[in-house]
Amino acid sequence: MSVDTVIETLRGQLGDKVVVTDADAIAPWLTDWRGRWTGASKALLQPSTTQEVATIVKACNEAGVPLVAQGGNSSMVGGATPNPDGGSLLLSMRSMNNVRMLDAEAGTVVAEAGVILANLHDTALKRGLRFPLTLGAKGSATVGGLVSTNAGGTQVLRFGTMRGLTLGLEAVLPDGTIHDGLGGLKKDNRGPSLDQLLIGAEGTLGVVTAALLKLAPAPVARSTAFAGVKSPAAALRLLRRMTDLVEGFELLPHDSLEAAQRHMDVSSPLASKHDWYVLVEATQAKGQEDARALLERLLAYAMEDGLVEDAAIASNEAQSEAMWRIRDGLSDSEKQVYGLATQHDISVPVDAIPEFLKRVKSEIEREWPGSWVSGYGHLGDGNIHLHVRAMDRACEGWQESEGKEIGRRVHDLVTEAGGSISAEHGIGQMKRDELARLGEPARLTMLRALKAALDPKRIMNPGKLIP
Ligand code: MLT
Ligand code: ZN
Repeated sequence: MSVDTVIETLRGQLGDKVVVTDADAIAPWLTDWRGRWTGASKALLQPSTTQEVATIVKACNEAGVPLVAQGGNSSMVGGATPNPDGGSLLLSMRSMNNVRMLDAEAGTVVAEAGVILANLHDTALKRGLRFPLTLGAKGSATVGGLVSTNAGGTQVLRFGTMRGLTLGLEAVLPDGTIHDGLGGLKKDNRGPSLDQLLIGAEGTLGVVTAALLKLAPAPVARSTAFAGVKSPAAALRLLRRMTDLVEGFELLPHDSLEAAQRHMDVSSPLASKHDWYVLVEATQAKGQEDARALLERLLAYAMEDGLVEDAAIASNEAQSEAMWRIRDGLSDSEKQVYGLATQHDISVPVDAIPEFLKRVKSEIEREWPGSWVSGYGHLGDGNIHLHVRAMDRACEGWQESEGKEIGRRVHDLVTEAGGSISAEHGIGQMKRDELARLGEPARLTMLRALKAALDPKRIMNPGKLIP
């Protein structure tokens, strides 16, 4: 059966509201948000129920027509952009946007795949709770995409990634059968967990339609501090003292702060200049130690020991917001001020970060004269967003082939340091070949075997993740 026949069959079953073929309506979803990848699709499918998703998947499976599931289109790795051949159909999950259930006593919520993260935050907050995962794209990223990429962000230190926050999933498998894992069983030993297999599978093994997620009590207060430190090694020692007490610990170099100051017209929270900075956040639940007093105590002690050179603690919510605005605006500010860069979302064991940063900077800058390596990120998670720029070609960035070569070298160094070439953004189409080159045999065997077993016709998000 051809793509056109599948579209007509689905139109007959589900109607024009679900099956959209107007090119103008499809166009905005064919290019990823950063404009790096553009694909083609003859239809945009917009189901609003799990049953409709199952109908679509079944028809596509029978016809061997590929499907690319998409949430907020905020992938950093081209994970939700269809391939340019136009042979696949785009499956938008944005119309499945109900919060089906929120149990305030149990601290759980069932959110459909298309629920936007910021809306989930608001819904939880109205009931005195919070969904403790946040990231820059919270205004567009959806639950289905967060689950499918095992998203991270700035609160992982305390609450973990999506894998840790997901208690169960509802999903449609490649043959159209519906998996219902929303029961919330604490103990369930019926073999390996299908839910866990789908988390981080980037839509290659099935389509996530809803998730049972953990909530945490909303804090009564938070305190944010911005501190100047001499080096990543000093930041790491500070982190070790604070790990169980704080929920955010972000590291940034002076160059990144400067870019934010120049681009966003924000001022540094500190009067003094330092080589590196950390942004630390502590929150306080009812009956717990005052968050501000806690940070004051920890930072004063660190200053006495020479670990921290200077520190500012936000004295109100507006000042906390201003500190986070700097952090959240780093990627865009650097791009505007310093030009394009090759970007690498990588992780290494937390203790290896200071040495890794030194090594990657010296090796890359030596091997590519005129290059400049800098990185910021989630120190507590061993996750650095590493950027490599060409200093004398700031506006053009690197040529594509050069950029790829730099990427391969960075990944080699990451692998030597025992790290991962994708910490929190996924593999998508951007890193698939690198995963094939560097993935350990056991990992590649597992990925390929799962794909062959669950999706023998390879209709689910072809060209992404699986080498
Ligand atoms: C971040 O932490 O800001 C995001 O993961 C995006 C990035 O900078 O690469
Ligand atoms: Zn990040």
